[in-house]
Amino acid sequence: MITETVNQLNIIQRPRRLRQNDAIRQLVQETSLNANDLVFPLFVLEGENVKEAVPSMPGIFRFSIDMAVEECKELWDLGVKSIDLFGIPEVKTEDGSEAYNENGIVQRAIRAIKKELPDMCIMTDVALDPFTPFGHDGLVRDGEIINDETVEVLCKMALSHAEAGADFVSPSDMMDGRIGAIREALDDEGFIKMGILSYSAKYASAFYGPFRDALHSAPQFGDKKTYQMDPANTDEALKEIELDIQEGADIIMVKPGLPYLDIVRRAKDVFQVPVAVYHVSGEYAMTMAAAEKGWIDGPKVMMETMLCMKRAGAKIIFTYYAKEAAKLLAK
Ligand code: PBG
Repeated sequence: MITETVNQLNIIQRPRRLRQNDAIRQLVQETSLNANDLVFPLFVLEGENVKEAVPSMPGIFRFSIDMAVEECKELWDLGVKSIDLFGIPEVKTEDGSEAYNENGIVQRAIRAIKKELPDMCIMTDVALDPFTPFGHDGLVRDGEIINDETVEVLCKMALSHAEAGADFVSPSDMMDGRIGAIREALDDEGFIKMGILSYSAKYASAFYGPFRDALHSAPQFGDKKTYQMDPANTDEALKEIELDIQEGADIIMVKPGLPYLDIVRRAKDVFQVPVAVYHVSGEYAMTMAAAEKGWIDGPKVMMETMLCMKRAGAKIIFTYYAKEAAKLLAK
């Protein structure tokens, strides 16, 4: 500590004036995080009264439908009004047909949640990875992930979610032309109000590991590089996003989150649609693991991370930390 007063310097602009206390800091804060920015990814599986912990994602569970409804009520009361549903089907078939079974796990979950919480925004993942034995987002023929036939199945899947009462579909498969095809299929059946949140710039990332454990959906051969994007690329992300908007996407998403915030910023600067970002399972797991070891302050790192996502230009954040974040925000 310096005790003697030193000569005052002639400094006209003193940025620290704006950091003197909380009241001033909050007054000049450019970005803030709110519970209503958050979307909670929810994993549903068959059974009753099941709440199964996901080992690589502390605090995250696979819920049977009845328990998922209870989880949604808690989220709603905390101010988290949107969820993204991921189904864990009991049957996996090569044609992925369970994905559009009107009595499938996701379709029943939508109906059950809507019954209790009609105003909750329910989004649904549209991709085939948990529904075929291969763990790929599309149909497989001779070791190849085939595009156009997959798109047809995705359209059926999206329609079945619309019929069950979902508000948004979230295609996460990265097949070409799927947004346009899904938009047309929905409109043809009169679902003109159903929204599309497209995983537009989704990278072939190593950060999805814990999610694939949670959903039992790890690829059984090869990798996802023929459809998900190369982490080296950024112009390509803008091309993907532009195509999705032209094809009818209402909201676009960049995924993963923290290592891809440059993409979020570019998207925000160029396009006039809401930008979402997915703070993915591996990012969540890393933070939780370091926090468990006492190496970082978990809640502070999580909240800073999400604030930075907003600063980068994301309005919407998909995060496994939604519930905890909402609790902290309510304090
Ligand atoms: C599947 C899908 C994945 C995620 C969301 N939807 C995994 C993948 O593409 O392999 C990842 C989410 C996460 O890691 O939290 N289409």
